[in-house]
Amino acid sequence: MLQIIDKLLEEARQFQAETKEEVEQFRIKYLGKKGALSELFRNFKEVPAEQKRETGQKINQLKQFVADRIDTLLANLSDDIGGDDTRDLTLPGPPVLSGARHPISIVRNEIISIFGRLGYTISEGPEIEDDWHVFSSLNFPPEHPARDMQDTFFIEKDPDILLRTHTSSVQVRVMENESLPLRTISPGRVFRNEAISARAHCIFHQVEGLYIDENVSFADLKQTLLYFAREMFGKRVEIRLRPSYFPFTEPSAEMDISCQICGGKGCNVCKYTGWLEILGCGMVDPNVLEFNHIDSEKYTGFAFGMGVERVAMLKYQVKDLRLYFENDIRFLEQFKAAY
Ligand code: PHE
Repeated sequence: MLQIIDKLLEEARQFQAETKEEVEQFRIKYLGKKGALSELFRNFKEVPAEQKRETGQKINQLKQFVADRIDTLLANLSDDIGGDDTRDLTLPGPPVLSGARHPISIVRNEIISIFGRLGYTISEGPEIEDDWHVFSSLNFPPEHPARDMQDTFFIEKDPDILLRTHTSSVQVRVMENESLPLRTISPGRVFRNEAISARAHCIFHQVEGLYIDENVSFADLKQTLLYFAREMFGKRVEIRLRPSYFPFTEPSAEMDISCQICGGKGCNVCKYTGWLEILGCGMVDPNVLEFNHIDSEKYTGFAFGMGVERVAMLKYQVKDLRLYFENDIRFLEQFKAAY
């Protein structure tokens, strides 16, 4: 009898089913009224007394195994999209959400691509900087207000270690390490100790550019920026340069683009001026060249720097800068782009 049980157990183990009917046959064969287990129980009384215990246990094991096997087989079959499946296969599937790039990445990549077409390389540098690379080598006099605690996040004092307030620091590192002529842009995150509002944030992104060679003129700067503005905002964009001040450029200017909303007529976006400010620029101050061991008699250069959030706000008509940092998916998924 023990052998018969073992054989039945082995058969049950091997059994596979492709339909519910086959499972039902299997159930009848083992657990039906005239099935194998009934027969075993019927013959049980003939088992010699000393084997009863072991045989009884084995029969019960077999019964349990068969019951479990039926459950597993049925469960597997119901996963199958078989003929008697009741699900509606014409229903639409669960939505597959495709990701979108962050608008700041889209705009940054676009800026990089525009200057890439003009032969600019990309340079990157540390976000935690020293005073030399962020201020001193850029001709910031010691008492310059930009060194004020209000603007800069200091990490250590004397010697000062700080979070960079602009990516001009990267350009200093490029001047230190690379040979002339230089043509590079530095995209990156910058930090300023400012109250967060619709127009300002303590963390934002910049792309700054630097071009140094013999005979680089302000006209080259202007043409480069005009090219950039038209690639970025459209062929009809006009630019204007207003005199400004930066310690590291002389002369310095701020560039406006003609308002794309009203076409220069005046609206609430451009505050009825027809112009929108977009970046700072100028000819590299000879002091900065000399601090970086570049002969300012032989070489000249220009530099410019822009906030990526600002460009993105103008491009996408987003009025509140904070939206770029909140990562609300309903805001972010509106931006799909090739970049
Ligand atoms: N570094 C300046 C800023 O962060 C921008 C700038 C760069 C201005 C280069 C002029 C030339 O505001």
